[in-house]
Formats: sequence, structure tokens, C-alpha cells
Amino acid sequence: MDKKWHEIDLFAKNAIREAGRKIIDSFDEVLNIQTKSNVNDLVTNMDKQIEKFFVEEISKAYPDHRVLGEEGYGDRVKDMDGTVWIIDPIDGTMNFVHQQRNFAVSIGVYHEGIGMLGYIYDVVSDELYHAVKGNGAYVNDEKLSPLEDVPLEEAIFSLNATWLVPNRKVDHERFIPIVHKVRGTRSYGSAAIELAYIAAGRLDGYLTLRLSPWDFAGGKVLIEEVGGIVTDLNGDELSMVDNSPVFAGNRAVHEKVLNEYLKK
Ligand code: IPD
Ligand code: CA
Ligand code: CA
Ligand code: CA
Repeated sequence: MDKKWHEIDLFAKNAIREAGRKIIDSFDEVLNIQTKSNVNDLVTNMDKQIEKFFVEEISKAYPDHRVLGEEGYGDRVKDMDGTVWIIDPIDGTMNFVHQQRNFAVSIGVYHEGIGMLGYIYDVVSDELYHAVKGNGAYVNDEKLSPLEDVPLEEAIFSLNATWLVPNRKVDHERFIPIVHKVRGTRSYGSAAIELAYIAAGRLDGYLTLRLSPWDFAGGKVLIEEVGGIVTDLNGDELSMVDNSPVFAGNRAVHEKVLNEYLKK
């Protein structure tokens, strides 16, 4: 592994574990909960505090790197020039508030648009998924196996019920045949955890209609390291600076669902 990326990887893992400790410690304190775009779009003092922590640590250690963070404490990133950290301090804030589990810290580090480092830290389970491009993906110290091709009939597919009822975004009926075809469906409420589960082979497909780059930047690096695919619903490459529908899966499930159910 290139020495430079190895050093950044160690720095990132230390910072992420420290962020995890701060989050666990916050369970003893009263959360300040606010809403953003609507009454169900929650943000807490911890989402903000953790993002600020990363922005400060990264700007001290790597002043020429830029940060794109959900809560807006980083830079105004409009392109992927240079090295960009794409950070979701707490992915699954609704779970964090209501369940104190099923949320994750998610980080992708991209260099000239290429995903170099990917991290998803399921704090409560103490599972740190991490990958350096070209060096495989791991959960804690355990190397993740290359993804196996799973027939659709045996696939566990993650899809939020929101997309199966009439909604403003899309013709919901087009997803119903997928639900009939697969072995089972799940929804965990944290895009990062769903992507980490794809990388770990616990899920075979994940489809959602609206994610932001910080939701998928880390997961994309992890999944690609084990031979999986992450695209939009047409099979096209995702932009790292725009919101997008996202479809991730092992190679066989991705190809079959794309060709037989998604492509018009
Ligand atoms: C949300 C979660 C959720 C997904 C939403 C995201 P947040 O992220 O990943 O699973 O369905 O689209 O916005 O706001 O909790 O970081
Ligand atoms: Ca949010
Ligand atoms: Ca998120
Ligand atoms: Ca978030």
C-alpha cells in the first residue's frame, strides 16, 4: 500500500474510533434535537459536534484536503479536484434518536474523484468497516470475502417501504415485482449500514430513491473492494457532488435487477 494512503488510513481510523467514543458518552446526556427540511428530518447536537470534530482534525492534519459534510461545517465542495473527505457524522439520525442503535459514522476519501478510502463505523456494534482501494475490505481485523453471485430468488434485498407506496419521486409500482421475486426484504434506516451489509454479504441488494454523497461515499469504496457494484437506477456512475437514487448489490443481483426490472 502507498505509504501516504496508509498514513491517512491510520489517521482516519483513529479519528473515527474517537468519534465513536464521543457518541457513546453522549448516551448519558440529554440530546438537543432539531428538525431540518421537515418534521421527520432530525438533527442533533451530536451530528453537529461530530462533524465539527472531523473538520477540525482533518484541517489540522491535512490543510490541503477539503471536507464535504452533511451538516455544512466543511467546505463548499462543487467538484472532486484534489483530496476530498465526504463525511456523514451520524448516518441514521432517526435511529440514533429513537433506538440508540442502527446508526453509523460514514466517510469516503476521494482523490481526483477516485474513492481511495472507505469507512462505515457501526458504533454500538463496534463494527468498523474499512477499505483502502486495491487492498480489500475489512470489518475490524477480519478481511471480507469477495461477494458471491446470489440468484435473485435467494437474495435478501433492502428497500424502504416508503418507495413501495405512492410517492412524489417515482412510479412505486415498478419495484413491487422485485419484492415478489427475492427471498426477503429488509430496511435498517441507515444507508451506510445497508451498504456495509452489502459489502459483508449480509444483504445482496439495496435500492433507494434519494441519497446524498455523504450517505454512499464510504460504502461505495467498501463494496467495490469486494467486487460489488454501486450505481444509480440506470446503472450509471454516481456523482459525488449531487443527490441521486442508488442501487447497490453483488454483481449477479445488480445485473439481473437492472436488466429485468429497472431498465425501461
Ligand atoms: C438518512 C439515512 C436513511 C436514508 C435517508 C438518509 P441521515 O441519513 O441514511 O437511511 O433513507 O435518505 O438521509 O439523515 O440519518 O444521515
Ligand atoms: Ca440528516
Ligand atoms: Ca445520511
Ligand atoms: Ca447524517
